[in-house]
Amino acid sequence: MPRNNMPPNWQPPAPAWCAQWDKNSDPLVVAYFAIQADSPDKLDAWAETALYRQNPPARIEKGAYTDQADVKNYLYICYWQQSEYLAWWANPKHCTWWSDPQRCNDGVGYWREVITMPLDRFETLNSSTEPHGVSAVAKTLTGPIEEHGYPGGMRDRIALSDHHDLKNSRDMNRKMPAVVSDKGKRVVVTPPENTCVIRSGQNWSYCEGEQKKFYLEEVHPVLKKGMQFLRDNPVDSGCYCLRFVDLKESDNTNKWNNTSQTFGLGYASDIHAFEEWAKSHPTHIAILENFMRMVGTFGENLKLKLWHEVTVLPKEGCEFEYIACHNNTGLLNYSQ
Ligand code: HEM
Repeated sequence: MPRNNMPPNWQPPAPAWCAQWDKNSDPLVVAYFAIQADSPDKLDAWAETALYRQNPPARIEKGAYTDQADVKNYLYICYWQQSEYLAWWANPKHCTWWSDPQRCNDGVGYWREVITMPLDRFETLNSSTEPHGVSAVAKTLTGPIEEHGYPGGMRDRIALSDHHDLKNSRDMNRKMPAVVSDKGKRVVVTPPENTCVIRSGQNWSYCEGEQKKFYLEEVHPVLKKGMQFLRDNPVDSGCYCLRFVDLKESDNTNKWNNTSQTFGLGYASDIHAFEEWAKSHPTHIAILENFMRMVGTFGENLKLKLWHEVTVLPKEGCEFEYIACHNNTGLLNYSQ
């Protein structure tokens, strides 16, 4: 891992682990499949026939959130090795449901965001040895690592940053390339190279009593404010889109039961935009301060688990499709 941003004689304030991958292994793919509707039924029906059979994802999670237009979104989060994903998507039983023009007339919105995560363009961080998200697909976690806990640590954990600045020109008004069809109801957007995606998770399911109360009353509300700021201020923050998602139980039933976990899923013009917000914006500073008070109060007994995964998007291998969605969905608004 590069250490270009690490202060001299750095000692991390707390232990952390990251996922370890075989150097020559296939890139990973994460695909978000979602429905905008009062109920997930129509998406569940597709998932039941498509996700659990041939070339299934190595990991499936589920989540739900209400967006800024007050619309409910239900999503499946699926991780594959790229070759497995390509074989799965090439199967007409899995993909034709999405391309069917009828989807534009179902009376609901659908979106799918597919991201290739080349190993030199992504990183993970887990505050414990229990892996979350894509880390749960890795054979092992490695750590405690030294490359974290300082501004720019996230960038240091991305191998490509050693000889690439990972920057994007930050003109939010420049439209992203898109292909529009089905009378404007279907839009496929190609996100620009170096767009940055973060999935940043919080698991308080092991916190009990006073610890749970502290998290829910002192940390969760400021986290919510931070997520709202990113969601509602794309021009100031460089964050195109932010979803604050409740993780649901990921069994293969049609139930969407609650868990004690959330995650922020955000896209920014580049990794520097997220870094800047984390380092200097009052909302992330407040999140950090309240979290540090929690660490101070509960010390080694702290049971809160934090984790994230960050990808700096490659030029190719990402596909974002929006079908009959409202304009403020994902990257849709930046393409038309
Ligand atoms: C309870 C919630 C959260 C807490 C307690 C928290 C706390 C922290 C901590 C301790 C770090 C330093 C990590 C390290 O390198 O060891 C960090 C970094 C960071 N956080 Fe958060 N965070 C939370 C939620 C979020 C969310 C939801 C996002 C974005 C969607 C976010 C964005 C970032 C970014 C981009 C960094 C990397 C900064 C860098 O390495 O330059 N955080 N956060």
